[in-house]
Amino acid sequence: MSDAKPVRVVVLISGSGSNLQALIDGWQKQELPIDLAAVISNRPAVLGLQRAELAGIPALVLDHTLFTDRQSFDQELMRLIDSFQPDLVVLAGFMRILTPEFTQHYLGRMLNIHPSLLPKYQGLHTHQRALDAGDSEHGVTVHFVTAELDGGPAAIQARVSILADDDAVSLAQRVQQQEHVIYPLAVKWFAEGRLRMQGNRAFLDNEPLPVSGYPIDATHCGDLD
Ligand code: GRF
Repeated sequence: MSDAKPVRVVVLISGSGSNLQALIDGWQKQELPIDLAAVISNRPAVLGLQRAELAGIPALVLDHTLFTDRQSFDQELMRLIDSFQPDLVVLAGFMRILTPEFTQHYLGRMLNIHPSLLPKYQGLHTHQRALDAGDSEHGVTVHFVTAELDGGPAAIQARVSILADDDAVSLAQRVQQQEHVIYPLAVKWFAEGRLRMQGNRAFLDNEPLPVSGYPIDATHCGDLD
């Protein structure tokens, strides 16, 4: 292990927090050179908050329904996040559209995970949309966050085969298995100083990544090890 200072991470959630759990697991096993400084949810009483508390991470709620507009919520959220002085902000199922002021403030130091092979299927209901389109494969992408919804430079992308008897639930489950592999990996690379964003491109070890991110092919295997 290097004696470099661990990268401080604040995780934003809205729900079950299974991606948060994957980060907690990697952190507890000392596989990730990070400090999980805080978890913030815009919804009260979600499972992700319990996961954080169980791991001894400060777990906070900033309820968006108590704010009159998007701008004032995002400003308060920025203030709260910055009070933990993070090097990286991780959106893990954070179901909010962000203002340009917010995305600009964390440009190059905020990651999101989106369940599709971006640039395909930005927005919601990605699994059903892939099925309806008759696609043979689907997947998930970790990307840097910019003002464009689900549109920032891709860091890692994992592909998953669509099976003949898949429905949105079964497909989502297999995609989530990959989420729990590629999100910790992207956070690890960022924390090690290997992954960064420059211009509108992601770089790994100073090499520009493909537009769809570092490819992880999970088509023929359920897991990566
Ligand atoms: C994941 O499917 C992720 O791709 C999407 O929201 C979901 C969050 O799940 N952005 P969880 O809360 O991490 O379990």
